[in-house]
Amino acid sequence: RLVGGIAVATLALGAIGAAGAAAAPGKPSGPRYTAGAAGVGDAYFPYAGNGGYDVQHYDLDLRYTPPAAAPAPLEGEFEGVATIDLVATQDLDRFNLDLRGMEVHALSVDGKPAASVAPPLAGAEVDGAAYWHVQDDDARIWELTVQPRPKIKAGQAVQVVVEYGGTTTRPEDIEGALYGWVTTRDGAMVVSEPEGSMTWYPVSDHQTDKATYSFEITVPEGKVAVANGIQPKPEDTADGWTTWYWDAPDQQASYLTTASVGDFALRETYSSGSGVPIIDAVDTKLNAARLATTNASLGWQDEMIDFFESRFGPYPFVAYGSIVDNDSVGYALETQTRPVYSSQASEGTVSHELAHQWFGNAVSPERWQDIWLNEGWATYANWMWNEERGMRTAQTAYDNWYNTARPAGYWELQIGDPGELGLFLTQVYNRGAATLHALRLEVGDDAFFEAAQLWVERYDDSAGTSEDFQAVYEEVSGADLDDFFQIWLYDQQKPPTTWTTP
Ligand code: ARG
Ligand code: ZN
Repeated sequence: RLVGGIAVATLALGAIGAAGAAAAPGKPSGPRYTAGAAGVGDAYFPYAGNGGYDVQHYDLDLRYTPPAAAPAPLEGEFEGVATIDLVATQDLDRFNLDLRGMEVHALSVDGKPAASVAPPLAGAEVDGAAYWHVQDDDARIWELTVQPRPKIKAGQAVQVVVEYGGTTTRPEDIEGALYGWVTTRDGAMVVSEPEGSMTWYPVSDHQTDKATYSFEITVPEGKVAVANGIQPKPEDTADGWTTWYWDAPDQQASYLTTASVGDFALRETYSSGSGVPIIDAVDTKLNAARLATTNASLGWQDEMIDFFESRFGPYPFVAYGSIVDNDSVGYALETQTRPVYSSQASEGTVSHELAHQWFGNAVSPERWQDIWLNEGWATYANWMWNEERGMRTAQTAYDNWYNTARPAGYWELQIGDPGELGLFLTQVYNRGAATLHALRLEVGDDAFFEAAQLWVERYDDSAGTSEDFQAVYEEVSGADLDDFFQIWLYDQQKPPTTWTTP
């Protein structure tokens, strides 16, 4: 396999920038500059995220032209300047960013330009400040390596500026689902779970490195660009281009970033309880039936926030609201403060994506194998919302789930480790929700909700594992939950109706 004319096998770790050797004990201390790792070590996506530094802030200055009318190809034109503030966590000789399908035009570190060079052969030295970009679609390796000069000391803050761009298409995730910067005829739907943010900005693309964001998105006049958070100032228009400003001051995982573009009508309201601004963007091209469904569903957001706050604790971010696109990627995504919906927003999905703001967004899954903590909770919160609305109790939803006949394979999936191709299987959602309902029956309502709130509070702005989650429930309830979680997350059979908690 060739990458820029160099066989990947001979690139070796040095070219991509995997971790160098640790400092030998007994040697005099002092800087030992090594390469930051090419991934954070997530078993499902080994090259997602990067090691050796911690991003503080991304400032994304984007200019985007949606495709021309059909029959022109469904491709957009994209130019970006990403300004990334990071702090080194080790003495850095090299470090990586993830970037897929875009070309880098220029790169600097603290104002010092780096030269574009071909990926070096294994072990080869590169002179001076430089960068190189390995993009291997077959191996799913997309790594932009930066060699800063001077080298960076542990604890040092630097600013990396990347000028980049290219033709946007419709990227696919490992399962073949659309994700990332998905070009649509009228704009773009930007939904990047699990590691699709690298299709539109240089990033440490893993939720263990959260950061704040600011956006300046320039689009042809008449188009609306909607990202996370709030508008710090109104858009401005000059020479046929409109620039939209958005600020996301809360810690945010990369997969939850959006900057969707379309023919949206923006409207702002406030939640009645805590007064969170709710900024919705609804495609003006929705047909009457979809618009009616969407408006009715979004009309519940305010009361849903109040209800979930009463169960899960304070709404965790500065703002909320929804982006409803006339186009579809086949699913909705809980992008932080501003979920994206395909074609229309149903009440059930709105409750699901809102609940993700606590479960998935404020507290993210530390490893992708912990995805049930996202989808189980969001599904369970929808069961709770249905009960609150007098539609069907959570107990009935659980009973229906439990009593439905399933093909044998259904019970074999370990929702606590579903595999990278199993992240979004129905078992992760529904067995995940049932796990939470069973846990509630096991520890009682008081402990169940107290622990839920403690979980969000303790791991807010951060990430946790299934083991961390079990520990919080054991701490609050005083119960030993080893058997419980073994049965529900890992046993490859239908959970029994009763089990013993020692
Ligand atoms: N997290 C989204 C939700 O449940 C689903 C994302 C599905 N993504 C995918 N690539 N299939 O709301
Ligand atoms: Zn979900």
